[in-house]
Amino acid sequence: MYNQRMAENPLFLRLKEACQLTDACWAAYTFREGDVWRLGDVYHLSKSSQAMLTAFLNEPGSATWLGGALTGGRARSRTLQDRSSLGCTRVYAFPAGLMTLVVVGAQAELDTRAQRIWKLAMLSDPFPPPSPGEVSLLQQTVIELQNTQQELQARISAQREAEARLIQAAKLAAVGEMAAGVAHELNNPLTTVVGFTELALEELPLDSPLRRDLELVLKESRRARSVVRRLLDFARQGETNRVKADINEIVEDVLLLTKHLMHTNNVQPVVRLGENLPWASMDRNQIKQVVINLINNALYAMPRGGQLEVETACQPRYNRQWITLAVRDTGVGIPPENLARIFEPFFTTRGDRGGTGLGLSVTYGIVTEHSGMIEVESEVNVGSSFIVWLPLEEAA
Ligand SMILES: Nc1ncnc2c1ncn2[C@@H]1O[C@H](COP(=O)(O)OP(=O)(O)O)[C@@H](O)[C@H]1O
Ligand SMILES: [Mg+2]
Repeated sequence: MYNQRMAENPLFLRLKEACQLTDACWAAYTFREGDVWRLGDVYHLSKSSQAMLTAFLNEPGSATWLGGALTGGRARSRTLQDRSSLGCTRVYAFPAGLMTLVVVGAQAELDTRAQRIWKLAMLSDPFPPPSPGEVSLLQQTVIELQNTQQELQARISAQREAEARLIQAAKLAAVGEMAAGVAHELNNPLTTVVGFTELALEELPLDSPLRRDLELVLKESRRARSVVRRLLDFARQGETNRVKADINEIVEDVLLLTKHLMHTNNVQPVVRLGENLPWASMDRNQIKQVVINLINNALYAMPRGGQLEVETACQPRYNRQWITLAVRDTGVGIPPENLARIFEPFFTTRGDRGGTGLGLSVTYGIVTEHSGMIEVESEVNVGSSFIVWLPLEEAA
């Protein structure tokens, strides 16, 4: 690595110059590689003496001496007793960088002037460049650090997502429970209102000026009752009936039901059903409800027509297989500020056009009940995409 003694090597020249100025016998750059001290450029040291010096530096007794020079930033010396092979009686270590020392052999003690020369020589020196080994080690460390950082980032965002989902789920559960309680309370009185209004209307003369008002009462209370019924359905989700079912069959059933609606709404269906999809365990009626809700929303989002894409597939994620159902529209899209709220019960932007805000919260409830996930992507005036992920059983 460093021990080519090129005459033009500035480090070598520096060692040579300082040795001549201070009457030193030899000098060598030395640096730590892992646990071992190694030699870099050397001046006036034969191959066998180099080996000797390396061995000497790595003796346990040398550790304090070298470590002291390195961490203290000051020259340290040692007296040699029986070391004729190193050709000197004293050895000095001068710090020459964060991990580098210059080790100098001398016959006599170096006086303050000589020591200053060594110190200055080291200070003004370009320190030896890192060895190819050190460079590749550094590069490797950088790559490892980058990988670790990426992994950490991924874990942090996964954690955040999980937290957000948990909060959302808790919120939905709380609101859902409350809504179910309220629905229960309202169901009976509403039935009474509807019943007695119907009776009153029957008794009312056809030309009564009250008729229009009462008809409005009847219409509105029926609407309220239907909302309450749907809420109660939502609350009854616990009773499920799971069987192995073919998602494509369910999708085809729903498409058949909505074909007419699509046609009159000028909506072009694009259906891509995955072939030979494995059957997942699901409650057919509930999943049907999910498909209906998603398709209905897509149709409402395209009042002036568009394209409705329905796609089923089997895909891996998180080390398992999932059945996916994607419903995409080219409709009005969902503004970002609404995106976080669309699964909340009663959140609707179609309140004036018969929206109840229950479709997606029911959908969400059903999908999570199936240990599944639901993903939304949307861009205003471009369209929305809802993807339902239903897990297949763990591979046996
Ligand atoms: N495909 C879609 N495109 C645009 N907006 C949508 C779509 N699906 C749902 N939304 C928005 O989410 C809201 C809630 O949907 P949902 O729970 O089904 O209730 P509702 O359909 O009764 O309004 C809708 O009012 C609408 O603002
Ligand atoms: Mg809806």
